[in-house]
Amino acid sequence: MIINNFFFILFLFSFSIYANTDKYRCTLRDNPATSIVIGWNQISGNNPIVYYDIIDHGTNSSSYSYSKGVDRSIYTKGMNNTFSRLSGLLPNTVYYFIIEDNNSTSQRFSFKTAPDVPTERLSFIAGGDSRNNRIPRVNANKLVAKTRPNAVIFGGDMTDIDIDWQWQDWFDDWQYTIANDGRMTPIIVARGNHEYNNESIYDLFDTPNSDIYYALTFGGNLYRTYILNSNIAVNGSQKMWLENDLISNKKTLWKSAHYHHTMLPHVSYKPENTNLIVNWAPLFEQHGLDFAVECDIHAVKNTHPIHTNKMIGNQEGFIRDDVNGVVYIGEGCWGAPLRPVDDNKFWTRHSGSFNQIKWIFIDQSKIEIRTIKTDNADIVGSLKDKNRFTMPLNINIWTPAPNEDIITIYKTFSTNGPSIIKSDENKLYLYPNPVGENLHLEIDILPNLYPIRIEIWDYSGKNIFSNIYTKSKIDIDVKFLPIGFYSVNMIDITGKIYSKNLIVLK
Ligand SMILES: [Fe+2]
Repeated sequence: MIINNFFFILFLFSFSIYANTDKYRCTLRDNPATSIVIGWNQISGNNPIVYYDIIDHGTNSSSYSYSKGVDRSIYTKGMNNTFSRLSGLLPNTVYYFIIEDNNSTSQRFSFKTAPDVPTERLSFIAGGDSRNNRIPRVNANKLVAKTRPNAVIFGGDMTDIDIDWQWQDWFDDWQYTIANDGRMTPIIVARGNHEYNNESIYDLFDTPNSDIYYALTFGGNLYRTYILNSNIAVNGSQKMWLENDLISNKKTLWKSAHYHHTMLPHVSYKPENTNLIVNWAPLFEQHGLDFAVECDIHAVKNTHPIHTNKMIGNQEGFIRDDVNGVVYIGEGCWGAPLRPVDDNKFWTRHSGSFNQIKWIFIDQSKIEIRTIKTDNADIVGSLKDKNRFTMPLNINIWTPAPNEDIITIYKTFSTNGPSIIKSDENKLYLYPNPVGENLHLEIDILPNLYPIRIEIWDYSGKNIFSNIYTKSKIDIDVKFLPIGFYSVNMIDITGKIYSKNLIVLK
């Protein structure tokens, strides 16, 4: 009996050393500057509590200033998914936390809340499709730990067939996103077709609702990310919500959409998704969405800014439009089987087939998007909070052509040619358009902004024409231009660029 008691006490003691919680995750369902959700699998034990503080108290729960119990607990996929929703947090602040129940204490973790002002730069990792292959999945996860972004935005298809052991493996692999110092990165999740119902996402990530379409704003009015659900009706109430939300957030500087299915697949056996093109693309365009991250295809694509247009010369219903277009990137390579690209379009900027994630920086002046190859994750260096916008040692940034390692989106003006310029100002008039021989330009700017430079760029980004003018009415003979799409830029003396699309027909 004494021996039995000894082993029982030893058994209890072992539980106090080894956590009876695992499969940790941080998610976002509210303001990322002041709230976060701590989620985990409660293996055994009772009454778990999250202890947290802006001071690191290690695993000594009694020293932590704040604590929060369980807000939601749901048994699904063979896990007791337990969520504690922390709120009232300080913006742009590192919090340390542990999870302690009646017989175990977790390791000490940390997270950093997002800034609440637009003057702070933001970093995100975006991608999706992690089913099947655990090695590339883990590689991409390790890069999350090493780059310490503000959040991961994940476009669905986590597992192959949405069953218990696959999800458990997935969360075990997700632990590789935790940095060596315990730093966790919150994940914002969309639903894919390999999640067989909305509950798979809602119950495992405690998303803001069970419809799995929602939006979160970062940095005051800096950036709003839209999570859309392409696996339910994309019109009706979802579309109505999207339109209303875009209207009521028109003062937000940058906006992006993340959803699973691809509007414009670059693998030919997958047809264009007319349903998404008809219902979502016009809303993206009307309300100034800057980029969309698509998944599902298991290939790589970055488009030029494109806009729906039925004019001659469109492809799949889109033309390149550097002023009013949306940049589409994707298409999900976080561990799913890769497929060769065989369906490039005129307005494709880059395409390929390799394991990759998108690394996105957002500030008031621009968005930078890098495609990161993930296979060499083990030899990539690690960043800290203070240098999270620098490139770590050995990072493999895909550079499909010289100077094509970064896609930069400018909200206003740029001196980097016609890469991507967004301007509401209507100071440059072209006619006729389409044009055959003689192009007439009318400039409507103040006299003190002359002289101006007029540039013509082709859709591949090549400068075709450049000249200086001091008058407001200009004629240019464009007989030498082949049939196609062009951008005409007018640059005033201050360097401000006004851009218009031009079509040349013969
Ligand atoms: Fe898919």
